[in-house]
Amino acid sequence: NVYAVILAGGSGTRFWPKSRHRSPKQLCTIGSDSKTMIEITLERLDKFIPVERRLIVTHKDQVDDTRDIVGDRCQWYLAEPEARNTANALTLAALEINARYKGDKKPIMVSLHADHVIQKVDLFQDAIRDGVQVAAEGLLTLLGIVPSYPETGYGYIEKGEALSNTPGAKVKSFREKPELSIATEYVSSGRFLWNAGIFIWKTETLLRELEEKLPIAPQKLKTLLADKGSFQDLPPEDLETVYGQLPKISIDHAVLETSKQVAVIDADIGWQDVGSWDALAKCFPTDSNGNLRYGDVISIDSEGTTIDSDGPLIACIGLKDMIVVTAKGAVLVCPRDRAQDVRKIVSYLKEGN
Ligand code: GDD
Ligand code: MG
Repeated sequence: NVYAVILAGGSGTRFWPKSRHRSPKQLCTIGSDSKTMIEITLERLDKFIPVERRLIVTHKDQVDDTRDIVGDRCQWYLAEPEARNTANALTLAALEINARYKGDKKPIMVSLHADHVIQKVDLFQDAIRDGVQVAAEGLLTLLGIVPSYPETGYGYIEKGEALSNTPGAKVKSFREKPELSIATEYVSSGRFLWNAGIFIWKTETLLRELEEKLPIAPQKLKTLLADKGSFQDLPPEDLETVYGQLPKISIDHAVLETSKQVAVIDADIGWQDVGSWDALAKCFPTDSNGNLRYGDVISIDSEGTTIDSDGPLIACIGLKDMIVVTAKGAVLVCPRDRAQDVRKIVSYLKEGN
């Protein structure tokens, strides 16, 4: 059977004031007037992966709010005591699936982020179906996206030979977040794809690779889980103690960069990682002057603006390349090319200075 694991561990800094610790990006309506990103992520799975086989892995402080928002679309949660990056979150998820569905001999998990935009849902589902065939052969399967610019925040997949029995190709090399000069070389070579962060593999394959490359996580967590049917059956303090000892590392660094058992499916699915207020205009259709508006907004003679109100009317005249957001009683005004610095506001609020 195929299981969906939704990683929802965002800390909510770059979409302030809309996103906060208690309501990170995936729990916000970003790029939509009414739906949160996590609802859209789950809707994409409707008629495809049944509700009982969907697992959300998130911070313990965010479980209740997530449950309120997604309602019937997911009923299975893993509450992390703290974020310790994706290698550990995925180890937890794989062990949880194995424990909860003991009768399922070869569970395949599809790992998804809760904060991606995917415009072509049919092609996304086709790509996952292809990926499931590849994963069944014992490979760690990635979805690859044709890169459009040398983004340094993504992983790069070098495509190798086509597989013979299934769709997809072997991965020759994987490089997580290369520096700009290398990313530029990769993009111009035409041989590399972006890693979409969507993974498909048998839980058994992942755990086997982890046992070789990051044994502490599967060993400690397996011992802790013992013969329980779920991590949720343990006293939360027990998970907290063990989880706190695990090295913070992403799956990309821990496994994908060095594994020999990686494959890729070309996925022309209209994928975007919505990273900041500035990136929104690249992900969603703007008006003819490059403006995006959500909520009660009047904007006259403006160009390249993103304006979002959760209540009060925002009225603007003659703005160029600006972001204006009101949410939860706060107002953000910032030039688009400073959007990455929004996280500085969050640290200012947390720590002062
Ligand atoms: N539950 C949980 N716990 N989720 C987490 C944790 C954690 O400790 N850490 C990260 N996540 C979730 C994030 O919320 C996000 O949905 C996803 O896992 C990926 O984490 P990011 O921190 O956003 O990773 P990234 O964007 O830097 O890089 C990854 O994604 C890129 C594509 O978006 C890598 O896989 C790159 O190779 C890839 O290109
Ligand atoms: Mg990301």
